[in-house]
Amino acid sequence: MSGAFTITIDGRPVETRPGENILAAARTLGIDIPTLCHLEKCGPLNTCQVCLVKLNGKLVPSCGTKVTPGMVVESETEEVHEARRTALELLFSDHVGDCLSPCHRLCPLMLNIPLMLRHIEAGRLDDASHTMRQALPLAGVLGRLCHHPCEQGCRRGNWASPAAIRDMERFVTDREREDSSLAQVPPGKAATGKSIVIVGAGPTGLAAGFLLRREGHAVTVVDRRSHAGGTLCGVAEDLLPAAVLEAEIRWLERMGMEFRFNADLGNPLTLDGLSRGFDVILIAVGEMTDAEAARLGLPLIGNSLRTNPNTCQTPLPHVFAAGSCVRPQKQLVKAMAEGRAAAECMQRYLSGKPVRRPEKPFTSMMGRLEPGELKLFISAARGGESVAPCDRCAGHTKAEAATESARCLHCDCASSGNCVLQHYAQTYGADANRFRSERRHFEQQRQPGGIIFEPGKCILCGICVKLCELAQEPLGLTFIGRGFDVRVAVPFNEAIERGLQTVAAECVDQCPTGALVFADRAG
Ligand code: SF4
Ligand code: SF4
Ligand code: SF4
Ligand code: FES
Repeated sequence: MSGAFTITIDGRPVETRPGENILAAARTLGIDIPTLCHLEKCGPLNTCQVCLVKLNGKLVPSCGTKVTPGMVVESETEEVHEARRTALELLFSDHVGDCLSPCHRLCPLMLNIPLMLRHIEAGRLDDASHTMRQALPLAGVLGRLCHHPCEQGCRRGNWASPAAIRDMERFVTDREREDSSLAQVPPGKAATGKSIVIVGAGPTGLAAGFLLRREGHAVTVVDRRSHAGGTLCGVAEDLLPAAVLEAEIRWLERMGMEFRFNADLGNPLTLDGLSRGFDVILIAVGEMTDAEAARLGLPLIGNSLRTNPNTCQTPLPHVFAAGSCVRPQKQLVKAMAEGRAAAECMQRYLSGKPVRRPEKPFTSMMGRLEPGELKLFISAARGGESVAPCDRCAGHTKAEAATESARCLHCDCASSGNCVLQHYAQTYGADANRFRSERRHFEQQRQPGGIIFEPGKCILCGICVKLCELAQEPLGLTFIGRGFDVRVAVPFNEAIERGLQTVAAECVDQCPTGALVFADRAG
């Protein structure tokens, strides 16, 4: 390579050439430096400051700093990571968006509710079932018995009644029982060769088994009773028909979970025996009597098992415990969420990773909407009044469910999952509220069927402005205002589609946030 020379990044030499920047050299080494305002064809914009590295004792943006022979750069150190995290957190100080909708955040099992409602509205019940069963073990049971904390946070509830989320879960699972083509169990991951035994076939144990089986582990559930369901078996028929619980247990069997009944710890099962037969054990026996607790031979607090709350582990590292035998659980969905947390810890243990409970996914939050902002959301939604089923006992019909689902305001950001800002905020453990000041007002420019611009999500990276300039857009986009009031807009207050006549698709693709999206990808 002509003129090539070597620099060092994190103690590793890398060959580079004059004119190249540190970012490119780091990428050659496979180092993932975060960037938001960097796009090769735009040249250095140097606006986001998240691509920082340390050079000669100073933090510099790697995208705008050229290499020189012998340079020594630090990238993956705690100090540099902290500086990048701070740069990301500053971008959220007045950000206006919810990566995850309020209902999604409030569901202890993290169901992507607006996505499920979009599927129901569109009549795509197979997709609705898939989305729901990604998150919910025993979905049919939750569709009838969950205390629906999601609905308490539903934005629709600030404008008439909340979306009937739980009823929609019931609707989908009722249809699954009628139409076997909907009740297809998706294939789990390839077999891992690891085996797990879960003692206790109640909501916590079944939820853990559901998630671990999907990871490809062999899961056996044992219970002292002659059937699965634990406390659910005692629920009155009008609240939970036996056929609904039965269908959910069949679903777990079809996933490949094995059940063994009439077997209790100490009679004939022992921890030693189970440890010889299985790689990991989960104790999820529900509330225990003193005698049962003593039979286990594990340390107790009162008659609850003593576990590490961060790892769900008992003093025996391969023995986990969750649910009411650790802490009494009144709410069904929370008992299942405990099973999910235990499953995540066990999964990490089996893959040799440090054991810990699942972290909450990163999300920016808009918080409470002002009446004018809520009105904007309502005007973009299709549905009106809440739709009660004509026949309460039979639940919603397909048409009723579609109309009810259309009431959802789609509070989730259309870019969630594709947003570069969200991705790096999650990777760097950013706290969206650290520098939170008064946020901007929610504003949306919408071209029917076309582009949507949300200035509150714009981080002023300048990529779209530069792309317009390179493409010689007649109007394009530009920075207007001064100081804290700078924003991106079409000159002369023109509409967004007038500004982006030829580069709309490129700008949407390259915008590192959800500020520019196409309406068909939005809710
Ligand atoms: S633009 Fe990105 S960070 Fe902002 S709300 Fe949307 S997904 Fe979250
Ligand atoms: S309106 Fe829809 S997305 Fe928003 S909180 Fe309610 S159910 Fe969730
Ligand atoms: S709208 Fe333009 S300036 Fe704002 S974040 Fe997107 S690409 Fe960057
Ligand atoms: S300053 Fe380097 S990517 Fe933004």
